[in-house]
Amino acid sequence: MSDPHTREVDPVTGHDTTGHDWNGIKELNTPFPRLVIWALVLTFAYSVIAWVLLPAWPLGRDYTRGLWGLDQGAEAVTGYRELATERQDWLTRLTNPDLAALGSDAALMAVAMPAARRLFEDNCAACHGATGQGGPGFPVLSDETWLWSGDPEEIATTIRHGINADDPDTRLGEMPAFDWMERSDRTVLARFVAGLRDGTADAQSPAAQLFADNCVACHGEGGQGGLGVGAPSLTDRAVIYGQDPATVMETLRQGRHGVMPAWAGRLSEAEINLLALYVARLRHGAEPATQ
Ligand code: HEC
Ligand code: HEC
Repeated sequence: MSDPHTREVDPVTGHDTTGHDWNGIKELNTPFPRLVIWALVLTFAYSVIAWVLLPAWPLGRDYTRGLWGLDQGAEAVTGYRELATERQDWLTRLTNPDLAALGSDAALMAVAMPAARRLFEDNCAACHGATGQGGPGFPVLSDETWLWSGDPEEIATTIRHGINADDPDTRLGEMPAFDWMERSDRTVLARFVAGLRDGTADAQSPAAQLFADNCVACHGEGGQGGLGVGAPSLTDRAVIYGQDPATVMETLRQGRHGVMPAWAGRLSEAEINLLALYVARLRHGAEPATQ
């Protein structure tokens, strides 16, 4: 270490050294870079201007607004209000009970269907599946056959009042138990019903006679359903509980009493209409906005 009090000038750069010496390497005493000083001055000046013009200082529950009075919160609220008014606008139109007219309004459907999908996912998908594909105990909503009806106004009634639900106007549809019937007859019927789905049922067999006597009144001639009593078609692949002989035996022995909750009171009329239009279109695919 050299003596710190003797001033030493570096012969190459002309700068003073700090006097520190590490094994012959000396540290130069160069001035603080001007660029950095300017940058500090400018950022300080900017911060002072920003304090004056923009919201800056917290004041407990409030804050200084600045001369420009900018307020992101107020802007967000205005944006939200505009959005809500727009939504209210088309939602109000959906209270119109003439669903056919609503459904043919392509512009309205284009804004409404994405909202309908979210509503369906939030309220219905847990039972009926995200695309209405159904599941064990819950009917398919995306096919051509219906327990009740695929007409949007009828679907709205189903959603509003439910099926076998806790609602004075609920639809009632029950598969009675056939436990009084000879077990052998039930076995014959179960095989016949499984055959209906596979297209192998023999319409001339004694089983067909048993079916005609006991089942056709609700399930329709040939089991094609669609009589508006809540009994499903037995001729398609969209089964609720299962159409293998063992499950049909269970259905015949104990009956079935599926419950679809009533949504009146939980969803608004506009939302129910919206969902009815949505469900009526599900058979055309999961994203039915343009049909
Ligand atoms: C807790 C389960 C559950 C929820 C949630 C539910 N459903 Fe259902 N839904 C059912 C059951 C079960 C049936 C069939 C009832 C029967 O077996 O008779 C049904 C039947 C239906 C039907 C009649 C189908 C036809 O073929 O006629 C429609 C339409 C329907 N639901 C729409 C909806 C909509 C829309 C929602 C959402 C708002 C919804 N469901 C929510 C259980 C549910
Ligand atoms: C009083 C009307 C009625 C009669 C009579 C009736 N059913 Fe049903 N059946 C229904 C209803 C309603 C359902 C739907 C029940 C539900 O979803 O909870 C149903 C459901 C079924 C199912 C379940 C279908 C599936 O997709 O899982 C089978 C199988 C069935 N019936 C077979 C029969 C047979 C066989 C007979 C004659 C012995 C018969 N039903 C008589 C009303 C009836």
